[in-house]
Amino acid sequence: MTDTLDVERLRSLFPILSRTVYGRPLVYLDNTASTQTPRPVVEAVTDMYYLHKANVHRGVHFLSQEATDMMEATRRMTAAFIGAPSTEEIIFTRGTTEAINLVASSYGELLHEGDEVVLTTMEHHANIVPWQLLRERRGIVIRVAPLLPDGSLDMDALRGLLNERTKVVSVAHVSNVLGTVNPVAEIAALAHAAGAVCVVDGAQAIAHIPVDVKAIGADFYVFSSHKMYGPCGVGVLYGRRELLEKMPPYQGGGEMISHVSFEHTTWAELPFKFEAGTPDYVDIGAFARAIEFLQETGLEAIAAHEEALLRHATARITAELPAVRIYGTAPGKAAIISFLLGDAHPYDTGMLLDKLGIACRTGHHCAQPLMTSLGIEGTVRASFAAYNTLAEADALVDGLHRIAPMLL
Ligand code: ALA
Repeated sequence: MTDTLDVERLRSLFPILSRTVYGRPLVYLDNTASTQTPRPVVEAVTDMYYLHKANVHRGVHFLSQEATDMMEATRRMTAAFIGAPSTEEIIFTRGTTEAINLVASSYGELLHEGDEVVLTTMEHHANIVPWQLLRERRGIVIRVAPLLPDGSLDMDALRGLLNERTKVVSVAHVSNVLGTVNPVAEIAALAHAAGAVCVVDGAQAIAHIPVDVKAIGADFYVFSSHKMYGPCGVGVLYGRRELLEKMPPYQGGGEMISHVSFEHTTWAELPFKFEAGTPDYVDIGAFARAIEFLQETGLEAIAAHEEALLRHATARITAELPAVRIYGTAPGKAAIISFLLGDAHPYDTGMLLDKLGIACRTGHHCAQPLMTSLGIEGTVRASFAAYNTLAEADALVDGLHRIAPMLL
């Protein structure tokens, strides 16, 4: 792939990238946690408050209808963005975590004691704990597919876990620690062959590689706006219509009903059955501008650019810093570099990088079982986005050169 992104033009849309921290230019490499937000999205949030704020789906008045139209336009754009066949299959949530909880809780109601849910060692806590809560409620069994030494999923082991009791296979599309890109279409096909549904946690894929839920064959696909240049507080659950129709509501309240009486209440049609209460229509309205930003920039171009940054930083680290151990070397991995510098504690490395203006995440990255399997407590994680530059990749490597003598 060729790197064709006009990064300087992109950067001009992100005022925060011109900030200094500790008197140094900010080098923001914590994009796996949250990406930054471009001006058109921030301005859209402001406009929503200044000009368009009115509760959705409730009023006959002009503003309410306008806000409703904006929210439903975002739903159409979201469906088109991920190749979902219908807007009724797009549920707005507060984030990826809430979306997985919705599936585990509501689809989980259809599971029985002894049914099996297959996860992988690389899952984020958001794709582990909701299934453990379900295990407590319904006596399901959780099976875990292990990883190969390079951080890719052990597909033979995964196949070996699938059987007639398997009801759900729930996997990350891209690991938030290792950067591994899982073969989700193959995993979905295996799940279906076993009679199970496939849930894909797309939080770390959606802003970095093109996603088509039909091509993947995902039954559920979930992601968050704040990791895709959008506002905080908005997530998306794509679910196949016939599954969503079978599932009981997740929460009860206004908007998700057809008719309420004290004796008997009936549910609204999709997608509203799963959207109890006032949604974050302000941020959902602005989220449309984030989708536009991604479409205009182009996922193929973003992927090529981030891959160039990953290759450059990895090549330099490998050649110049033998004390650095990188966790996650699967072929085709996303632009996430998790590492340790010698025996230094990741917090110390992260703190010294921070003093140089370089923002990385440190710790277990909400993936403690993965850390346990790697035999470590945590890592330092540098993760790239569309607006990062080769100079910033160099700043990371140069920063490591600078702090290595203090820690080794
Ligand atoms: N899930 C986010 C991360 O990996 C918060 O940093």
